[in-house]
Amino acid sequence: MKKYLVYLSGDYLDLAFEELKASLEAEKIDYFNIELNSQVAVFESQNSPLIAVKRCAYSHFLAELCFIGEIENNRLNIQVLTLPELEEKKSIRVRINKVGKKKTSFSTSKMEKTIAKEIYEHYQNHDFEVDLINSDYTFRGICVENKLFVGFELYIQDKKEIVKREPGKRPVFRPGAMKVKFSRSLVNLCRVKRDSIFYDPFCGGGGLLLESTLLGAYSIGSDLDYRAIECSKINLKAYVQKKYALIVADSRKLPIIYADAIATDPPYSIQSSTHGEEILSLLSKFLKEAQNILKKGSYCVFCSPKKNQPEKIIDYFPSFHLKTMIDTRIHGSLTRRIIVLVKNSD
Ligand SMILES: C[S@@+](CC[C@H](N)C(=O)[O-])C[C@H]1O[C@@H](n2cnc3c(N)ncnc32)[C@H](O)[C@@H]1O
Repeated sequence: MKKYLVYLSGDYLDLAFEELKASLEAEKIDYFNIELNSQVAVFESQNSPLIAVKRCAYSHFLAELCFIGEIENNRLNIQVLTLPELEEKKSIRVRINKVGKKKTSFSTSKMEKTIAKEIYEHYQNHDFEVDLINSDYTFRGICVENKLFVGFELYIQDKKEIVKREPGKRPVFRPGAMKVKFSRSLVNLCRVKRDSIFYDPFCGGGGLLLESTLLGAYSIGSDLDYRAIECSKINLKAYVQKKYALIVADSRKLPIIYADAIATDPPYSIQSSTHGEEILSLLSKFLKEAQNILKKGSYCVFCSPKKNQPEKIIDYFPSFHLKTMIDTRIHGSLTRRIIVLVKNSD
């Protein structure tokens, strides 16, 4: 069993943590003793969590945890955990950042030197060179208040790839389109798997469909507005091979009979219209249909403004139970409440 550390985005920390756990589950990677220390998630696993962390929108990097430290009376005490087997004559670097509100006054360069000394002592005959720019191996750490976590880097997120898919970069822009990271995290929360059927019944410009298709799912999108379907069609074509289907349909009467997972962003009556239906009534009618197309253990994820208290309607659907509820402040007048439901019985 190895220990891993994942450095999560601070923007929506609760969402980032839930997304990580959901992605591990989607990839069938058992994890144990998971803990969150500010933005640092630490857990144990017998299998590499790489594939799961790579699909997360709000995970910045993954490392095999090698050192934990504590700063006391301006002294850094290091505990060495297990270190990976590494090749000789390679270049290494140690990179540490401080995060959180109460940052220690202990300098990161002193921390880096202490860790580098431990690494040289451990790999005595390896002839490692230091290369701060193009190193073969990186030991990356995060210092949260007086606690330090340092690991051997396995993966670091490529932010440029995400930017390429932002709503403003797609061929057609539709008002109300969700940011890529948010769309990806919703898709992850519904634990969608490769080659399974993903469904977004309020698909708009296709943001969630794009993310689910990139994760290898067969994606089905429907929307009451044919212009949304046209927009999805053009946008999806620009990024992914055809592994999707688009339908003009009302989510109060779903056009499909089966899906493995649902994630969706129904309208809030702000930028996108509910077509005259009251928001909670629209959600209720959609859930009544959704429960019939999912099998036991499948996930249904949706969001709605917090001020509407969308969780109030869940009790009317005993075939679902509430797995988790996450609030995300988008701007002064909108906090999105994400509801994660699991189907209880067929
Ligand atoms: C918030 S938008 C979805 C945005 C999408 N997540 C994106 O990133 O582009 C909601 C969509 O729900 C659609 N809609 C509203 N009422 C509907 C209904 N009864 N059935 C299906 N779609 C509906 C609207 O046309 C709109 O495109």
